[in-house]
Amino acid sequence: MKLPPQQVAVLEAASADEPRRIADLAAAIERPPETVTGAAFELEDAGLVDVIEETEEEVELTEEGREYAEAGLPEVRLYEAALDAGADDEPVSMGEVIGTSGLEGPQVDIALSNYARKGYGSIDSGDLSADPDADPSEDAEVVALETLAAGGTVEDDDALDQLARRDLVAVRERTVRSVLLTEAGVTELMAGVEAAEEVGQLTPDMLASGEWRDAEFADYNVEADAGEYTPGKTHVLRQASERVKEVLVGMGFQEMEGPHVDADFYINDCLFMPQDHPARNHWDRFALEQPEKIDELPEDLVERVERAHREGVGPDGDGYHSPWDEDFARALALRGHTTSLTARYLSGVAGEDVEAPARYFSVEKAYRNDTLDATHLLEFFQIEGWVMAEDLSVRDLMGTFQEFYSQFGITDIEFKPTYNPYTEPSFELFGRHPETGELIEIGNSGIFRPEMLEPLGVEADVMAWGLALERLLMLVTGFEDIRDVHGTLCDLEFLRDAEVVY
Ligand code: PHE
Repeated sequence: MKLPPQQVAVLEAASADEPRRIADLAAAIERPPETVTGAAFELEDAGLVDVIEETEEEVELTEEGREYAEAGLPEVRLYEAALDAGADDEPVSMGEVIGTSGLEGPQVDIALSNYARKGYGSIDSGDLSADPDADPSEDAEVVALETLAAGGTVEDDDALDQLARRDLVAVRERTVRSVLLTEAGVTELMAGVEAAEEVGQLTPDMLASGEWRDAEFADYNVEADAGEYTPGKTHVLRQASERVKEVLVGMGFQEMEGPHVDADFYINDCLFMPQDHPARNHWDRFALEQPEKIDELPEDLVERVERAHREGVGPDGDGYHSPWDEDFARALALRGHTTSLTARYLSGVAGEDVEAPARYFSVEKAYRNDTLDATHLLEFFQIEGWVMAEDLSVRDLMGTFQEFYSQFGITDIEFKPTYNPYTEPSFELFGRHPETGELIEIGNSGIFRPEMLEPLGVEADVMAWGLALERLLMLVTGFEDIRDVHGTLCDLEFLRDAEVVY
C-alpha cells in the first residue's frame, strides 16, 4: 500500500510488542513530534496503529526555584555564613551573619523561617548558632532541587511537596502518547508499504505550474498537539476594562474624559467634602509640587460651592461651619477617585450639556496613598458611573448593579449602608471571592445629596458609584493578589493564561 512518507516512517519505527512514545519515535525518525503525532493519528484512523494516551505529572522548577538551584537555598546560605562567622562555636549576632550571607529582601525571612525547622541551628534573642553536624549536601530539599536543575527526576515525594509549598517547583500534567502497531499494521508492513508523494502545503509555484491539479494533499489533523506560543497580547486588566466599557455602552452610558491631575475643587469641594476632612490633608493624597495650583476656576461655580459649604442648601440646610478657602480648593493632586470627572460633567465645565435623563461612565485610574497589600495599590482602575433622572430610588441603584454585574456572571452582590459626605443614602457593595470565599468590597455608591447637586446646577436626581475594576476581575478570574496583575511582582503565567469572561 502507499502512504505519505511520514506515516511510512512512523509505521516502520513502531513496534507491535511495546508501545513507543511519540518523543522516541520523533528522535528515531528525525522528524518533529507534531509531525509524528499527526502521522500516528492518521495511521490510527486507518486501523494500522493504536495511539495510547497517558497523563504524566511533570515537575518543573519555578523561576525562584531555578535561582536557588544556582545560588543555594537561603537557609543554606545563612548556615554557611554562620559557619564562616564561627556560630558553630558560640552564638553570633544575627545581623552580622545576614550581612555576610548576602541575603536580601524577602530571602532573609525565608532563610530565618527555614533555618531552625531544618536543623541548621537555632535563633535565640537575636543571636544565631549553627549546628556543626548539619550537612546541606544531605538536605532533602537541596538534593531534590539540584536533581531537578540537572534534568533528573525526583522520587522523594516529601521533598517535592515541601518544594511545591515553597513555590520552588510547579507540577504540570501533560498527555503522553505512545504508538503500538496493530495486527493490520503488521500485515501491511509485511506486504510492503511505499511512500506516496503527498503535499502538506500549497505553494505559489504549484498554482502557477498547475501541479496542484494532480497533487495528493495531506489531511488536516485538528487533534495534533500544537506548539505553545506566548505572544504579546492585551493585558487582562485592559481586556476587562474594554469589556466593562462595552457593557456600560450597551446599557446606554456615555464615556467621560478628564485630567488625572485635578484641582481639589473638583476632587473634593464640588462633592461637598469639608476642607478639614482628614482625607484632604494627610495620608490619602498625592499632592502636586509643580505646578501647585490650578490657574482658573469658574467664579460663579466657586461661589455656589462655597455657599453650600458655609450655609448648606435649602430652607433647612446647614453648612459645615468650618473654614472654606478658595486657595485650598485650587491645590492640584492626583485624583483619589474619578468622581472628579463626575463633578466636571455635572457642573458643565467639561463642556457637555447634560440634562436628565442622562447616563455617564468612565473606567480610569485613581490614585491613593494606601498601604500596599493584597487588595490595595497606590493606583487602581475605578469604574465611575452615574445616572441622572427624575425620582431615582435605591431600587434603581441596586437594579443597575444587578444588571451590570450579572453580565460578568456575578449574581450575589451584597449591599451595606455606609457614609459619604456627598451621597445619602450610601451603599458599599460586596462580592464573594470565588477562591477564598471571603466577602470583598467591590465598590461604593449612593444618591447625590442636594448640597452637592444644587451648586452644580443639577435639578434632577443623580445616583452614582465608583467600583474597582481589579476587584471585579478578582471575582471573575479568582486571582487573589492585586499585585499579580500590576507592577513588578505580577504573575506572568496568570497574565498569559487568564481567561476573560464574555
Ligand atoms: N468616590 C467614591 C470612592 O472613591 C465612589 C462613589 C462615587 C461613591 C459616587 C458614591 C458616589 O469610593
